[in-house]
Amino acid sequence: MGICRCYEPGMLRSIATTTDFGGFIADAPVCIVVISRDTKYYLEDGSAPTENILLAARAHGLGSCWVAGDKKPYAADICRLVGAPPGYKLVSLIPIGYPTESPEKSKRPLSDVLHWEKY
Ligand SMILES: Cc1cc2nc3c(=O)[nH]c(=O)nc-3n(C[C@H](O)[C@H](O)[C@H](O)COP(=O)(O)O)c2cc1C
Repeated sequence: MGICRCYEPGMLRSIATTTDFGGFIADAPVCIVVISRDTKYYLEDGSAPTENILLAARAHGLGSCWVAGDKKPYAADICRLVGAPPGYKLVSLIPIGYPTESPEKSKRPLSDVLHWEKY
């Protein structure tokens, strides 16, 4: 697993234009690129730190967004951009910044998603 912290405006723009739904990365002060060595559990290996980074950002009052990811056609291009070693795969892009808005999203009730003993 590896983490690349990108903050140069040119690099942020390159990452943003390489993605399909991550254009806003160009406006973020920093984007963390999580890459993972291509082993059987590379996705789990990279997803756990991704979630931890999202939670840590939130705990510090920062905004972030998980931008995929390994299934995207641009994944290898991002790996090349950040100079990932051969055999590494992109897991996530995590732009982080100070939020300008705090939208409230209604959550599904717990009874919808939590099942006891059996689904
Ligand atoms: C695997 C994965 C890939 C995502 N890719 C993108 C993306 O490319 N662009 C984007 O704006 N948000 C992306 N998101 C963020 C989601 O669209 C969504 O905002 C986020 O998961 C919050 O979920 P919620 O609306 O259920 O709370 C991604 C999220 C996940 C988990």
